Amino acid sequence: MIKRKIILDCDPGHDDAVAIMLAAASDKIEILGITCVAGNATLENTKLNALKICSLIGKTNIPIFAGSNKPINVDLVTAAHVHGKSGLDIEGSLIEVADDYTIQDLNAVDYIIQTCLEQSEPIYLCPTGPLTNIALSIEKEPSIKNNIKKIVFMGGAGMSLGNITPAAEFNIYVDPHAADIVFNSGIPLVMMGLDVTHKVMVNDEIIEDFKKNGNKSSYFFADLMNFYSKFHRKLYETSESPLHDPCVIAYLIDPSLFKGKFVNVVVEKDSLITRGETVVDWLGVTKREANCTVITEVDHKSFFSLLKKELKSLN
Ligand code: BDR
Ligand code: CA
Repeated sequence: MIKRKIILDCDPGHDDAVAIMLAAASDKIEILGITCVAGNATLENTKLNALKICSLIGKTNIPIFAGSNKPINVDLVTAAHVHGKSGLDIEGSLIEVADDYTIQDLNAVDYIIQTCLEQSEPIYLCPTGPLTNIALSIEKEPSIKNNIKKIVFMGGAGMSLGNITPAAEFNIYVDPHAADIVFNSGIPLVMMGLDVTHKVMVNDEIIEDFKKNGNKSSYFFADLMNFYSKFHRKLYETSESPLHDPCVIAYLIDPSLFKGKFVNVVVEKDSLITRGETVVDWLGVTKREANCTVITEVDHKSFFSLLKKELKSLN
């Protein structure tokens, strides 16, 4: 079977952790490397969390690289209110990093450039955090555009309310200048924004059902969701939480689970009120050229059966 080769660029992050697990488990995906960025927490924390996650699931063969510790043009905003101070707070036992598993020496931006250039076929970039590493790679070596098959990313809110401001989704808000570079790059883009991720809702029933897998990674999933759900339950006054980042990986495993439309998207970079807003021209009223497939629909049942099956295959 031909596997899709990906670089997973993330800021783990509870839902990033689930994205890593899904990608590591799937026989349709080959993770070439994980690159970390500051977002949900500082870079120090996100890179440590990536090491912990891969250690826990027994995938210490995946190389991890550290990238940008701040957005291109603005100060870093983190999401301790969602993910805790470490970016991966859970109740329960501490996660240890495996002996001798460390961050690679090469910077994430140089790793992305080098990997794009050396692969014989174009690869997929899968950002699930702010787009800083991706934008800096494109700026530093524009020729990599030809070596990127698609960027499938979690970010943005087209027809939906924002989650960090009324106008903006967190990943795009944190580094709107990076997002602007990516939206203008000409690289094929697939946007998994709040329009779709708020249709991938986790509740207690799903958490309990995953525990029936009986393996360490599925119990870890439950621990992650129990912590991460607290913020969403309070803000949205429901018993469900959106599972954002794994949508990126599920799309690469089985795009038929999702539906969207190829449209124009622009990002507001500077406004105090609407910074990070992704303006999605769903109706084509601006006549601006389409640059992004915006996903809005998902097959919820099939998504969760896929995730449950894949998590069971881990340790
Ligand atoms: C995004 O923000 C982060 O908190 C999550 O990990 C996800 O990538 C959702 O807005
Ligand atoms: Ca994330």
